[in-house]
Amino acid sequence: MLSAITTGKPAGRRSSVFYNDVINGLRAANKYLQSKYFYDGTGDRLFQQIMACPEYYPTRCEMEILQHQSDRIAQLFVEGNTPFDLVELGPGDATKSYYLLRELLKIKAPFTYYPIDISSNVISSLENKLPLSLPGLQFHGLNGEYMEKMERVSNISAQRKIVLFMGANIGNMTMQQAIIFCRQLHGRMRPGDLLLIGFDLKKHPKTILDAYNDGQGITAAFNLNLLKRINRELDADFNPELFEHYPVYDPGTGACKSYLVSRISQQVHIGNETTIDFMENEPIFMEISQKYSLPETDYIARQSGFHAVHTFYDAKKWFADILWERLA
Ligand code: AVJ
Repeated sequence: MLSAITTGKPAGRRSSVFYNDVINGLRAANKYLQSKYFYDGTGDRLFQQIMACPEYYPTRCEMEILQHQSDRIAQLFVEGNTPFDLVELGPGDATKSYYLLRELLKIKAPFTYYPIDISSNVISSLENKLPLSLPGLQFHGLNGEYMEKMERVSNISAQRKIVLFMGANIGNMTMQQAIIFCRQLHGRMRPGDLLLIGFDLKKHPKTILDAYNDGQGITAAFNLNLLKRINRELDADFNPELFEHYPVYDPGTGACKSYLVSRISQQVHIGNETTIDFMENEPIFMEISQKYSLPETDYIARQSGFHAVHTFYDAKKWFADILWERLA
């Protein structure tokens, strides 16, 4: 507490990973912030609202896949009937995995569910809700970074692993980053282990752009909320009204990107030791939501040591949950 008095804020803030990531991003020649930091309490709530927006189709598409095809997915999971750990990366409120978990319980599959999420709110609310909604489910929630917590699961249990990485969360990486990420997953899995991975597919560019530019301005608020989080947690003085949400979609590359553009020339302070200068119209790159063709998903699989066993689509084929097997 003494340091809080002498420097105006706790020393912990200046040494936190969040602080360093923010400073590095805003000092870069092309300013950026990392989208994984969107998800504080307010960010979680705003993302729930995004998922309910008429323009935001991915959640409904994937929901349709799980509602209608969980029996088939569950059968592929239990083949051989050996006990397994079902590790879910970024479960959110688990409304989608709910259908799959319910199906697995129904067929008496021998498994333990390990949801891993960066948001402590997500994990604690699952701990409250799952025992009520899915009685008898064996589960163990873990709050933290994916790879670190996957290693934790491997230390807890030696059972075969089935990993769920749904919700098009892989879209928050470029293709090169996605390949590196899938190689890391490969390194933490064993031959024959399975990965169910959700990809948002390329479709009409306007459909995609609209999903990141909803009419109610919720996606804008979701992006601006990160500035408010930085204000609160890192003692900064962003005025969110002086930044404009600007999403773009390039149908050539499949990259959908969101920026916050500075409306005026301005200075922002972070704590009392850092000043960031913004030129009028200078962008902060906030998020990529990469869209894929099926051959591109196959390319990622091959490059990272997996092969596709089965592809599950919604009726419009706007979204795919693909079951990959980890190769030797
Ligand atoms: C949670 C990463 C899948 O990129 O579509 C939604 C996040 N950002 N609207 C996405 C998001 C803006 C979402 N993912």
